Amino acid sequence: MLSHSVYNMIGRSMSRRRLVYEGKAKTLYAGPEPGTLVQYFKDDATAFNAEKHAIIDGKGVLNNFISEYVMKHLGSIGIPTHFVRRLNMREQLIRECEIIPLEIVVRNVAAGSLAKKFGIEEGESLPRPIVEYYFKDDKLGDPMVAEEHIAAFNWCSPQDLDDMVSMALRINDFLSGLFLGIGVKLVDFKVEFGHVFENEVPRVILADEISPDSCRLWDIKSGQKFDKDVFRRDLGDLMEAYTEIAERLGVMPEKSAVRPTGPKLVH
Ligand code: TMP
Repeated sequence: MLSHSVYNMIGRSMSRRRLVYEGKAKTLYAGPEPGTLVQYFKDDATAFNAEKHAIIDGKGVLNNFISEYVMKHLGSIGIPTHFVRRLNMREQLIRECEIIPLEIVVRNVAAGSLAKKFGIEEGESLPRPIVEYYFKDDKLGDPMVAEEHIAAFNWCSPQDLDDMVSMALRINDFLSGLFLGIGVKLVDFKVEFGHVFENEVPRVILADEISPDSCRLWDIKSGQKFDKDVFRRDLGDLMEAYTEIAERLGVMPEKSAVRPTGPKLVH
């Protein structure tokens, strides 16, 4: 049993900030200033629309550090992002934006749903990058959609879509090079965007995260997978895979801080 004072402490720290949104792998809280949010990276891993679920101790910490690194570099080449700064092991300060309900996937190599859909062997290079759109709706299982659906149902304007595709392709070129530099092939990835208003003018910025949860990353030499397919397909230890990426990027935090061994709360 926890003492009343401990319960009060937990209650106070939890009520100190307002929950804005809880997703499968992240939680958003109200930020310290208007127009900001705190993005908290959870340890939850899900696949197949959350049919498969596990808690992977420390995954949230690694995704926080990896996504920080990627977002900062994308910012430095002129891609506008929601990232402001990392606050601690699991949290980032981000700009609040209105998420556009689309997942934009870019593919360089056949894998996953594309390989399955068209009967192509996984690992075959594609003749050119392929951009796909998925409508963000868990109840529908995020169906793939065409530009016509986006325009007809007004999920975003044609100009927004144009901006997102050109940013997604720039992100692809830049990240392909960045990962090549650490001996990793960027097979495919998913990004999300949102609207912010600057002097009442809407602008599209990169949101969410870019991490091994949302990319396929294969070792160039061995083909070993360092991404969430390790969890989706039961290929081994997910933390070992994500640690490899964090170490090669040079952003690996102290191991003891990733999986603290201190006393645990008994529920
Ligand atoms: P797919 O081959 O399963 O369609 O996945 C394409 C890319 O998108 C892959 O890098 C993983 C990523 N992805 C997500 O980030 N979230 C998802 O819900 C799905 C299905 C894929």
